[in-house]
Amino acid sequence: MNGRVVPDKQGPVRILAIETSCDETAAAVVEDGRKVLSDAVYSQILLHVPYGGVVPEIASRSHIEKIDTTVRAVLSEAKMEIKEIDAVAVTKGPGLVGALLVGVSYAKGLAYALNKPLIAVNHIHGHISANYLIYPELKPPFLCLVVSGGHSHLVETLNDGYRLLGGTLDDAAGEAFDKAARVLGLPYPGGPNLDRLAEEGDPHAYLLPQPNPDGEYNYSFSGLKTAFINLLHGLEQRSESYNRADLAASFRMAVVSHLTAKAMKACRRRGWDTIALAGGVSANSLLRREMQRSCDERRIRLLMPTLDLCGDNASMIGAAAYVQYQRSDFAGLRLNAEPSLPLLLRP
Ligand code: KG4
Ligand code: ZN
Repeated sequence: MNGRVVPDKQGPVRILAIETSCDETAAAVVEDGRKVLSDAVYSQILLHVPYGGVVPEIASRSHIEKIDTTVRAVLSEAKMEIKEIDAVAVTKGPGLVGALLVGVSYAKGLAYALNKPLIAVNHIHGHISANYLIYPELKPPFLCLVVSGGHSHLVETLNDGYRLLGGTLDDAAGEAFDKAARVLGLPYPGGPNLDRLAEEGDPHAYLLPQPNPDGEYNYSFSGLKTAFINLLHGLEQRSESYNRADLAASFRMAVVSHLTAKAMKACRRRGWDTIALAGGVSANSLLRREMQRSCDERRIRLLMPTLDLCGDNASMIGAAAYVQYQRSDFAGLRLNAEPSLPLLLRP
């Protein structure tokens, strides 16, 4: 199967989706881009904990070990034989090159052997599309705040593609959470651990600077991160006692206020009445609460994936792939991993 072919399928379209961009080996079977028939995620967290972060070589090797059993598990849960699927979808980027290559190679082999279409999905489009699984009636246009370990974007999701309103000028929100967690001595994965600790702290205990980057809808987290590190080092150098939960809560509040303020500004200035969250950081409990509060005040509809669909998973890849399937946007067998793939405005 190569290039663009018009699908002649009648009835439901069931896509086998594969995601291996970072430290989760994930597979899913998704029907018509909206209904998850089965979903499995093998998390590598325990393999990376001793190193305090994702080790790319370990991630690739673990994907190789787990991908086949993960795919077999979702086919069995969906009560399907492999030959019954209509297409194979896979994340082509962005992500770790070695990790992506495992999924891409496996998907290519499967599509070739089965003579089924191959669909190459942008991971960021996948995160945005997680919302279609929770809100099956949802259609573009809507505004989306994409916040993950690699991205912090405000994106307008339109009928014919995406418009990038703004993004981070330096670190992503997830990266900032991970770094702050590390200096607080919290284990990998930092973001969720900092979130849990912050629940016990006072968010007003420490004052951190509110970032003010150039550009109406841009974000910046590196200054905040440095201010936080300096604050902690200062406390330690002066041998002042401090409460780690208060520090975590103050940092989380500063990040969430920045994310929410720009998102609300985009809603106000560009007239959006619906905003969706997407990406791993959208699991952050304060972000969910603050976005809900701010949206309720302004009568804006807030869409949020359930927690299992915020982080990396293959169902979201299946949801994004369905749109491409309908357009016969198929990849050839020359498909390669694209570790630095940007958000594509006209996918
Ligand atoms: O979307 P994702 O799973 O992978 C990427 O595409 O990057 O996002 C992972 C990021 C990590 O930085 C992780 O620490 C962060 O999302 N994260 C969180 C929370 N859960 C995951 N950050 C803050 N609070 C959370 N509850
Ligand atoms: Zn992701």
